[in-house]
Amino acid sequence: MNFTRNIIITGGAGFIGSHVVRLFVNKYPEYRIINLDKLTYAGNLANLKDVENKENYVFAKADICDFETVKGLIAKYNVDGIIHLAAESHVDRSIKDPFTFARTNVIGTLTLLQAAKEYWESLPEGYENKRFYHISTDEVYGALELTNPEGIESPFTTKASSEHHHAYGTKFFTEETKYNPHSPYSASKASSDHFVRAFHDTYGMPTIVTNCSNNYGPYQFPEKLIPLFINNIRHKKPLPVYGKGENVRDWLYVEDHARAIDLIFHKGKIADTYNIGGFNEWKNIDIIKVVIRTVDRLLERKEEEDMNLITYVTDRKGHDMRYAIDSRKLQRELGWEPSLQFEEGIEKTVRWYLDNQEWMDNVTSGDYMKYYENMYGKA
Ligand code: NAD
Ligand code: DAU
Repeated sequence: MNFTRNIIITGGAGFIGSHVVRLFVNKYPEYRIINLDKLTYAGNLANLKDVENKENYVFAKADICDFETVKGLIAKYNVDGIIHLAAESHVDRSIKDPFTFARTNVIGTLTLLQAAKEYWESLPEGYENKRFYHISTDEVYGALELTNPEGIESPFTTKASSEHHHAYGTKFFTEETKYNPHSPYSASKASSDHFVRAFHDTYGMPTIVTNCSNNYGPYQFPEKLIPLFINNIRHKKPLPVYGKGENVRDWLYVEDHARAIDLIFHKGKIADTYNIGGFNEWKNIDIIKVVIRTVDRLLERKEEEDMNLITYVTDRKGHDMRYAIDSRKLQRELGWEPSLQFEEGIEKTVRWYLDNQEWMDNVTSGDYMKYYENMYGKA
């Protein structure tokens, strides 16, 4: 079959990547989608069972730091688009092991950029119709203050905004906000963003960067707040709330992020930056209570039965207080709007984890890593 485009999606076996791969494979049968993933602990091919046999889907197990392999794949498939999601993504791990984050997020991104540059510059048409789209995070902007701890009415709204709809300060991250990362994770993502922009400014590579807020939804590795807590509630295990639980995050349903990525990949302006978020701020402790109530209701437990699982623990080092994205540019320029309101999204998410206990047991079992090492070799 002749494909009209050949697109590498890195990190396609991870949480957000698997939703992006699924969307592209199903929506664009005329594109060949190459999922390039190393399959670290966070990568799981079970996330893509429903598309693995599609004709326009290819899986390539590779490390983004391996220049020859990456360049070979770009050339083999005559790749014209790269959507780069592969990364080490968990802040707590970055605090314990910053080198792995520098390697994957900085050197890996640079490797991918250089491989694409060499291949695209070797073609007669050069960078024409090529695109390097880098997925980044709002954490690069640092932290906003909690100037209104009780919450004020938010001046902005989208469909993702919750019914409770508060803002916990008057400032928001815009595309103009100065970078000020605090954790090794956000420092490594900030550095990778700079490399991507440098490849545009120096070599003319057609790049785009987006910075998104916290995602939630199916297939998220259960070290992150929402899936970890759903699983702990189910098993009546303590829920470790860092500090006072007052930190604020801005939550977006993962499929709405994937839809934004699709839109920006096709219609975004070269060399531009877009912030992606849902104007949906929550204090950790409030979102945790919503999750407890939802799990208890769906498991037909007594109302609020599991509130006593909440356990305050030592705070995360350097814990950023508040993230809040201003995504009006994306709305204004490309017409993006989230499709799902938070209350619907959280219900769908809790239901998914409860219905997919096998997936959860698999990724939390000791056999999980061994299984993947046996199948695909050691990561
Ligand atoms: P994830 O940890 O769930 O998945 C990461 C994927 O990258 C895994 O499949 C893993 O195997 C792969 N990977 C890791 N190192 C690799 C390497 N060296 N070579 C090839 N593949 C490798 O991450 P996620 O939460 O889906 O995040 C995806 C991207 O989106 C990241 O770049 C992250 O910084 C960004 N992001 C995440 C969020 C969020 O809330 N999760 C929000 C904004 C931005
Ligand atoms: O903002 C976007 C970022 O969101 C992404 O770039 C990261 O890849 C993603 O992991 C996420 O980072 P956070 O650190 O915000 O997510 P996490 O789920 O680890 O934590 C959410 C909040 O909950 C944070 O304030 C820390 C707190 N927390 C987390 C865990 C795992 C707890 O209180 N207890 C916990 O056990």
